[in-house]
Formats: sequence, structure tokens, C-alpha cells
Amino acid sequence: MRLFIAVPLPDPALEEAARILRGLQERDWPVRWVRDDGLHVTLKFFGEVTSERVEPIEEMLEFATSGMAPVELATLGGGAFPSRRRPRVLRLELRADPGLELLQDRLERAGEEIGFAPEGRPFQPHITLGRVREGDRLPPDAMELLETLPHGAPFLADRVVLFESRLSRNGPAYTARVEQPLAG
Ligand code: 2AM
Repeated sequence: MRLFIAVPLPDPALEEAARILRGLQERDWPVRWVRDDGLHVTLKFFGEVTSERVEPIEEMLEFATSGMAPVELATLGGGAFPSRRRPRVLRLELRADPGLELLQDRLERAGEEIGFAPEGRPFQPHITLGRVREGDRLPPDAMELLETLPHGAPFLADRVVLFESRLSRNGPAYTARVEQPLAG
């Protein structure tokens, strides 16, 4: 199965991100938009794993999150990966207190200990909004519009979730398998 660890958005932040998504969806951009229930902050992506690796992943999630306090986050308008000149993945940028990076680092190290290679690139916290369709391009004014999206109100993320991702023709569906509170 396909697994990843992410911070879900608490309701007010989810509503805010969904509102932004609605506004963007009204534009006729060649983008596969994320569904509202797919809005989250990914911390660690495992990809396809065999069933015997699930338990070690669940244990490492508990270990890496133990004693960690809730983290404050706020959205900072839109942006794109890999760059504004070549936008492929549209996202909301995030400001996060240092606890988020610490958490991501703990997950990365704990993942390494159970045999998952660390990400080769620096962690850039974000919420993915959509992906530009293969072979298509955004209109010239799109990046400016994304970058001038309003910043959001700060919010507290108090949970980390191990999600299972099932791919289908209608896009991925995510199911929470294990939830760990940030209660330290
Ligand atoms: P994203 O938030 O940066 O888009 C489920 O696919 C989640 O895992 C997505 O939210 C995606 O992160 C993340 N992810 C990280 N690396 C990935 C990869 N190589 N392939 C697919 N998803 C990946």
C-alpha cells in the first residue's frame, strides 16, 4: 500500500484553504486540483510499502511524535514547484514555527532507521493545491495571481496522521490509518 505522514488542517484552516481552492478552480487553468480532503502538509512520503513494514512505520510515528507540542502554522499565499518560471505543482506556502521542522527531521531520521531513504531535498512546508496537467502550461498571469493570494490566519496543528493513499481514475483518496496527537 501507499503510505505517507502528514499534518491535517484543523477546520478553520481547511475552510480557508478550500475557499482559496474554489477561487482558483473558477479559472480555466489546465490543473488537476486537489480535493478538499486532500489538503494537508506532507511530512514524510514512503511510497508503496509491503504490509510487514506498516507496523514499524506506525511505531516510528509514535516514537517521533512523542513529547512534541502543537505547532503554529500560517499560509503565506501561493507559489509553485519546482520554480515560478516552470510551475508544475501549485501550492500554498507556509510559515511554521520551528517545531514543524523538528518533527519532520525526527520522522526522517526514524524513517531512515527502519530502512527508508531520506528525502534528498530540503523540507519546504506547503499545502499542495493542484498539479499542472502533463504537457500543459499555466497562462502567463497565473503566478502573479497565486503570489498575491491573501495570507491566512495562524492556526495550531495538533495532530500528525499516517495516511494510506489509494489511486483511482478520480484521483487519490486518502484514509487516516493512525493519528498521533501533538500533546507534549
Ligand atoms: P505534496 O503534498 O508535496 O504534493 C500523497 O501522495 C502525498 O505525499 C502528497 O501530498 C505528496 O506531497 C506527498 N509526496 C511526497 N513525495 C511524493 C512522491 N514522490 N510521489 C507522490 N507523492 C509524494
